[in-house]
Amino acid sequence: MKIVIAADYRELSQMAAEIVAEQVRTNKNSVLGLATGSTPECMYAILSQMHRQDNLDFSGVITFNLDEYVGLAPDHPQSYHYYMKNHFFNQVNVKSCNINIPCAEKNNPEKVCLEYDQNINNSGGIDLQVLGIGTNGHIGFNEPDRFLSVDTHIVDLTEETIEANCRFFESKNEVPRRAVTMGVGSIMKAKKIMLLASGFHKAKAVKEMLSGKVTTELPASLLQLHHDPLVILDHEAASLLQAKE
Ligand code: GLP
Repeated sequence: MKIVIAADYRELSQMAAEIVAEQVRTNKNSVLGLATGSTPECMYAILSQMHRQDNLDFSGVITFNLDEYVGLAPDHPQSYHYYMKNHFFNQVNVKSCNINIPCAEKNNPEKVCLEYDQNINNSGGIDLQVLGIGTNGHIGFNEPDRFLSVDTHIVDLTEETIEANCRFFESKNEVPRRAVTMGVGSIMKAKKIMLLASGFHKAKAVKEMLSGKVTTELPASLLQLHHDPLVILDHEAASLLQAKE
């Protein structure tokens, strides 16, 4: 795995934005896999600035988001639909018909999941998948478990994830208990993967992700099996990498 350690969150975001921009410049019809969470927020801000100032053109780009809560309408301020519009889609020129975010609100959830993977395949597959990592090592909403699902599916969120994400809600009770997420297989099919992690609270998961062993109990560890993964860390997230047991 290629690991790059940035001085701080700002530098990490700049590096990540430049990699996405390079992907889009090289292939204006790129298929991007996109993540939410606080980590990629600054990357999206820099990409939006590149669009405004340098005419970075997203008009041919197709996007697939990793995940979405079940139980929040797309216009709910904590939904990932809302996040993506707010942080990125309303700031750049991605065509709305090219935006894909899983939504299991109204339709048959199994059908939604099946069609989501089919749509990714029909688009030619994801060229560059952006990922964050949960404190428990989840990617998308693939939570630690004995078995992981290969394809897009509905998942029960762990207490740790609900706890971690309650900072975005008024109270813990408001955090949805379920989500729809691309599976680890859907993620691993991406041609390139770029995982971002920032902060001391991610250091343990990062260390375990890069341990040289894979386990479904730390879903991000599977990325060690991918052929072209890049991990961008800030110093805090990388702080346990040199530490001896
Ligand atoms: C959330 C999302 C993930 C995200 C992760 C880390 O639960 N489902 O896609 O990568 O947690 O979030 P953050 O960047 O806010 O730490």
